Amino acid sequence: MINYVDVIYGLAWGDEGKGKISNAIAKDYDYVCRWNGGPNAGHTVYLDGKKYKTHIIPCGVFQNKKSIIGPGCVLHIKKFFDEIKYLSDNGFDTSLIKVHPNAHIISDEHIESDMKKLKGKLGTTGQGIGPCYSDKMMRCGVQAKKELDKKWLWEGDLDGNVLCEGAQSVWLDIDHGDYPFVTSSSTMPYSACSIGFSPKKIRSLIGVAKAYDTKSGVDPLFPETLWEDPTLNKIIELGQEFGSTTGRKRLVNWLNLDKLIQSIRLSGCTYLVINKCDVLEEIGVFKLYYKNRLVELDTMHEMETFIRDMLYPFDLKISFSGHKELITQ
Ligand code: IMP
Ligand code: MG
Repeated sequence: MINYVDVIYGLAWGDEGKGKISNAIAKDYDYVCRWNGGPNAGHTVYLDGKKYKTHIIPCGVFQNKKSIIGPGCVLHIKKFFDEIKYLSDNGFDTSLIKVHPNAHIISDEHIESDMKKLKGKLGTTGQGIGPCYSDKMMRCGVQAKKELDKKWLWEGDLDGNVLCEGAQSVWLDIDHGDYPFVTSSSTMPYSACSIGFSPKKIRSLIGVAKAYDTKSGVDPLFPETLWEDPTLNKIIELGQEFGSTTGRKRLVNWLNLDKLIQSIRLSGCTYLVINKCDVLEEIGVFKLYYKNRLVELDTMHEMETFIRDMLYPFDLKISFSGHKELITQ
């Protein structure tokens, strides 16, 4: 029987550092599960000073926990096995990794169609995500149970304490994001239930944000003129804001607190982590948008106080975190 479920998800446009948080707390759970997306995601994790990257496999595997790819995910068989090999070559126990039989399979045709029709227009990651979900909804897709050997299929029930790990974020959500500049899945924490448990089991909703905003791919909310701002360019370099799937530079803007408040309201966050505060500290500039105006603060401490005051009505636990250090619960 499930004891409780905690959900980690992104409050902005992805790349907030969800993987870091998930890896930091995974040891306290029996299962770590993904509910959405596929190889478009990129999780970066540091273990004993070594950097690891995964795209589809949940971070639980780094902490020796059962790692489940849920029915709402999509995966490309070859990329999945490449990732399995990468993890087993690095000494991780890949027998912990299981795929729900109803997850959908990305074909090479899906990737081709994404590259041809979507990548240029929307700045997708070119991983075949949209076309695969499109076939799923048309009910002409192929499920994992048809393609994967039984040994990789998950047939059990969740049990004990469960951590769910979101991919992409609230503003990339198919229903709530700036459509069509969104991904093709539900990134909202309530969609974690699609893995197969009751919403009543959810204990904490751990929303992850960043001290500044970034966008990979196209979105009119991030005007091209941002590329010309020297301070924002410094943040790209210091914050290493390069796509972990595509290698593309991410467009940076100051934190939009109005959008953050809106995404907290929409998603029902109970625990907020704001990552990469040390990047702003390194450049010594502290700005954010509030009520559509750019507010400049003198120190990180002032910025933290400002954010805490504005978020006071939400009764959240808030943790401000650095680039490298890990938080614990
Ligand atoms: P797709 O998910 O590849 O179809 O891409 C759709 C949009 O979501 C594009 O703007 C991508 O840059 C963005 N996107 C998809 N996955 C991620 C991610 O993991 N981090 C950040 N942006 C993402
Ligand atoms: Mg990422």
